[in-house]
Amino acid sequence: MSKKRIAIIRGDGIGVEVIEEGLKVLCAMEDRARLGFEFTEFPWGSDYYLEHGAMMPTDALDTLAGFDAIYLGAVGHPEIHDHVTLNELLLPIRRRFDQYVCLRPNTLFPGMDSPLKNAAPWDIDITIVRENTEGEYADVGGIQFKNQPNEIGVQTGVFTRRGCERVIRYAFELARKRGSQKPVASITKSNAQGYGMVVWDCAFERVAADYPELPTMSLLVDAAAMEFVRRPEAFDLVVASNLFGDILSDMAAIITGSIGLAASGNINPDGEQPSMFEPVHGSAPDIAGKGVANPLAAILSAAMMLEHLGQAAEAEAIQKAVLLVIERREMLPSDMGGTATTQQVGDAVLSALGSV
Ligand code: NAD
Ligand code: IPM
Ligand code: MN
Repeated sequence: MSKKRIAIIRGDGIGVEVIEEGLKVLCAMEDRARLGFEFTEFPWGSDYYLEHGAMMPTDALDTLAGFDAIYLGAVGHPEIHDHVTLNELLLPIRRRFDQYVCLRPNTLFPGMDSPLKNAAPWDIDITIVRENTEGEYADVGGIQFKNQPNEIGVQTGVFTRRGCERVIRYAFELARKRGSQKPVASITKSNAQGYGMVVWDCAFERVAADYPELPTMSLLVDAAAMEFVRRPEAFDLVVASNLFGDILSDMAAIITGSIGLAASGNINPDGEQPSMFEPVHGSAPDIAGKGVANPLAAILSAAMMLEHLGQAAEAEAIQKAVLLVIERREMLPSDMGGTATTQQVGDAVLSALGSV
């Protein structure tokens, strides 16, 4: 079995705590299935910044290039501007390794309560395919007349035909593979943003024509936000630009119970460069250090990483173990209505792993 090298970046706040539990599960899986995984930790993030004046060393991206995958906690520190922490660590990794798909599944599992009171288990099962390297997050723009009364900030959205088509095609391929019956939904705002979003819409139409058997729908993002709440069961695969995908991710997470359950993969589908797996949530400074963060999103992100690396059976075992913990409702963290600590929830998944 060839070795698989995984880079671990816990990052900040609860990122440190939830990755601890994810690693426990990954190590248990390594012992059980002898996957040949080798983990290397990097102490990068805000503490590193406070000490060295940078979120990671200058050659960090070259270092990461030698890995098969990256497992990340979260980044963000109350004393450092978010645009610094994120633009020096998370976003450069996504861009450098062309992780152009951000895949974010959201399922209403048995045992979870949705704030939408009529939703039954599995009724909500939405996978967001978020464009992850350009769009509203393109690092294009500038500030002129800085710190003066006439200060101007220009932030340019970049929508390329190639960038739009490839992520939309990924969504259609996934729909075809899954045999989806529900429409592939494109989220847009081309009524108000008549350039980039029109390029997006046209890309969607062109790619859709290659999948005539798959139904489609195109929704404006404001209406989509409403429909996620009003009739979430209408959605299956949702493909959206970088910013819209980000916002709808948190919404999809809460209608399926909690942000503490939402997993994510930043995927380079070509497989030549490492993909990165991380929970959807951030570093949650409000609960950091209290030992109460929900580690299930980090654990489910580890399962996505295993699946991406070709270990589908092991990924499914972890997902089943998480489902068991949720269904039993004995060892749930506070965001899911329980009183268990981060560590207790991780241990519960470990012990459930023994029975799947
Ligand atoms: P957040 O996701 O960190 O927290 C939002 C709310 O959800 C908070 O009340 C928090 O306590 C709760 N929450 C989040 N994860 C939880 C978990 N696992 N268990 C229980 N409760 C959980 O978002 P925010 O407060 O907007 O951002 C905090 C910091 O994180 C900021 O610096 C932001 O830039 C950063 N951030 C980083 C990432 C990332 O690294 N991928 C993602 C989102 C936000
Ligand atoms: C996410 C986060 C990041 C994003 C931030 C922290 C830059 O919110 O992964 O959802 O918007 O991509
Ligand atoms: Mn987000």
